[in-house]
Amino acid sequence: MEFMEVVRKRRSIRRYKPNPVPAELIRQMLEAGRLAPSWANTQCWHFVVVTDEEVRMKIGEAGMRFVGRAPVIIVVCADPEKPGYKGDIPNYLVDVGIVMDHMILAATDLGLGTCWIGGFHEHVVKDALGVPENMRVVAMTPLGYADQEPEARPRKALTEIVSYDRYAQ
Ligand SMILES: Cc1cc2nc3c(=O)[nH]c(=O)nc-3n(C[C@H](O)[C@H](O)[C@H](O)COP(=O)(O)O)c2cc1C
Repeated sequence: MEFMEVVRKRRSIRRYKPNPVPAELIRQMLEAGRLAPSWANTQCWHFVVVTDEEVRMKIGEAGMRFVGRAPVIIVVCADPEKPGYKGDIPNYLVDVGIVMDHMILAATDLGLGTCWIGGFHEHVVKDALGVPENMRVVAMTPLGYADQEPEARPRKALTEIVSYDRYAQ
């Protein structure tokens, strides 16, 4: 797909078909994440691919139940210490944001649905996956073939969010 078509086509998918996702497609999505830029190229992330049903259900119970019903969940963890801080802004959150977007757009291009998930109890996910103490679980996405076609949600117009040369309200 042409890049802007991928960007326009992406939706948050909250219902998935039970069909498994071919390993090669998961690999391509992870590869898109691997290539993401990061603070000083520190690549502070670790991706956990979850397909085991029991583990998926535990992760669903950590926040959004529909997540556990997707055939795959990709959980993105990060080490906050590696990229450090820019003033009071934690770089690992920025880096994980970029990784997630790379992977989600790649999945869209591969015909797969995703939904960025930030709402979950981190300690439940850490327990379920055995994530080391020093790592944070920042985000996750269910992954699978969409079983719904949501309308595009509205976005602000460029005129509302862009100014030139000087910040204008
Ligand atoms: C940082 C972040 C966290 C999010 N967390 C959740 C979540 O916990 N549960 C959920 O259902 N959607 C979550 N979303 C999806 C947003 O609700 C969704 O992107 C937004 O409503 C726009 O819809 P669209 O993705 O279909 O364009 C999250 C999105 C972002 C970027």
